Amino acid sequence: MSFDLNMGISTATSCSHLSPPLGTVKHQISKLVKISLAKCFPGDACIEPLVAICTNKFGDYQCNNAMGIWSKIKGKSTEFKNPNSVGQAIVRNLPQSEIIGSTSVAGPGFVNILLSDEWVAKSILNMLCNGIGTWAPVFDVKTAVVDFSSPNIAKEMHVGNLRSTIIGDSIAKMLEYSNVKVLRRNHVGDWGTQFGMLIRYLFEEIPDWEDANKNAIGDLQEFYKSSKRKFDADEAFKKRAQEAVVKLQKGEEQYRAAWEKICEISRNDFSQVYKRLKVEIIEKGESFYNPYIEGVLKKLDDLGLIKESEGARVIFIEGQTIPLIVVKSDGGFNYASTDLSALWYRINEEKAEWIIYVTDVGQSQHFDMFFSAARLAGWLPNNSIPKTNHVGFGLVLGDDGKRFRTRSSEVVRLVDLLDEAVSRCKQELTQRLENNGKISEWTDAEIAETAEAVGYGAVKYADLKNNRLTNYTFSYDQMLNDKGNTAVYLLYAHARICSIIRKSGKDMEELKKVGSIVLSHADERVLGLHLMHFAEIVEEACTNLLPNVLCEYLYNLSETFTKFYTSCQVVGSPEESSRLLLCEAAAVVMRKCFYLLGITPVFKI
Ligand code: ARG
Repeated sequence: MSFDLNMGISTATSCSHLSPPLGTVKHQISKLVKISLAKCFPGDACIEPLVAICTNKFGDYQCNNAMGIWSKIKGKSTEFKNPNSVGQAIVRNLPQSEIIGSTSVAGPGFVNILLSDEWVAKSILNMLCNGIGTWAPVFDVKTAVVDFSSPNIAKEMHVGNLRSTIIGDSIAKMLEYSNVKVLRRNHVGDWGTQFGMLIRYLFEEIPDWEDANKNAIGDLQEFYKSSKRKFDADEAFKKRAQEAVVKLQKGEEQYRAAWEKICEISRNDFSQVYKRLKVEIIEKGESFYNPYIEGVLKKLDDLGLIKESEGARVIFIEGQTIPLIVVKSDGGFNYASTDLSALWYRINEEKAEWIIYVTDVGQSQHFDMFFSAARLAGWLPNNSIPKTNHVGFGLVLGDDGKRFRTRSSEVVRLVDLLDEAVSRCKQELTQRLENNGKISEWTDAEIAETAEAVGYGAVKYADLKNNRLTNYTFSYDQMLNDKGNTAVYLLYAHARICSIIRKSGKDMEELKKVGSIVLSHADERVLGLHLMHFAEIVEEACTNLLPNVLCEYLYNLSETFTKFYTSCQVVGSPEESSRLLLCEAAAVVMRKCFYLLGITPVFKI
């Protein structure tokens, strides 16, 4: 223990004596409320505590159990005469805890709980000493699959794949932070009848396609289109293409090799995008599940789920006008048969308890249907694990309000789109450094790294900040604006905090060990409390699979920090140590937000 000279209030400072927080603040308060409820109503086995963040000024959290309990006991002979007296009893029976500063009961029994300033300060210091991992939310899921990005072989990656990559990576990161083991899966479209068509076309029309077109995915896409045209127009070719599918599926050497080459060319192209975006993902494409399809369909058939319909084999789903086709009338398997097999594999072989699919909303019906089929098969119990979610998202639009395209109305190449963002950032940064005479303080490498961090960060943040279900308009000018809710603004806000700390000349590692935090000014408390909400926000963003919730939090954090910094002098003030620690905590939480959104922070501007 030490005494802060300004306040004379004792605060714990030695980090090693502090136990890490257990889950979110809400969970910790819920535990206290649960104990109280058990004491107040010993007969009523376990009433679930209803605790929420408080929106009025009388509390930081509130317990909303009183009214519900009252409506149950009203009329019975108890010691309670109204909901307010139930609230009073909940307060009286709360166990002694360092978390709670004070409580009050409002009108119909709402219990307002103000956190203890000392506890908030201590928790923040504890986080600084023991790492932000101590603030991770807790989930009942051990292993999750996040199926994201998933472009199609022989086709250019498009903006839809970009959205899936950005959103999926963020969801994976948030779950990983919450100590869930995440299997990041790239379910690439690498199987199906289209390969017969493409391979035949290459064999017949482009004899040197392999040598001449190393890494030439763009050409591959052209060949793909031409092969489709030929397939539709030329009956004899159609037949040869269909035979090629059979040969490929039987594993005939020449066909297999061509298929592998096509996949490799595509893969090289995809990896350019992943490298730029720093996204880790493991490819387990559609072909991986092919050997499992027959076995899985047999299981479904044995359950009596598969019916014959117009020559195809289908599963009827209640409430759906069309059935789910699992074997086409030509005997081939399709997207749904693969997805059912992949789901079976993920649940049974990979032991995934939560399987999350990130694709555009256009595929909602496919997911609804095969999830329903899996539920019929008993693979997905109600309200329990394993569970599945389709994380749908809207379109990326151009200035004209239509689907985002280049001027020549081609699909935009993602690599070009990303490079453009970086090059604009670089230009802007260089210009600014020249204008304020700081260019000599920067190396070329620093400029390049910063431009990349800001450029890619801007593209990602512009996507993630919207509720994923809405369409959004792609605009470099908007996303690269240094004012407003943009990555540029936020990255600069973070760099500014770092510069405050640097300018103080203090050794922060040392300060964490010997210093203490005191929340004396109202704006310090607001900032401290906002930091404490971090875990709850990540929990909410994961539960509802909405990264925009984290973006909103990050933006508010930077606003809250600005307010604090405007009203509280840091460097040179009597409260300097405490306030520097608060600055550091804000920077640490901001960095974690950036990380979870897939954005690389910058430290200097
Ligand atoms: N390849 C598909 C597409 O481009 C997305 C695959 C999504 N994942 C899945 N398991 N269906 O639309």
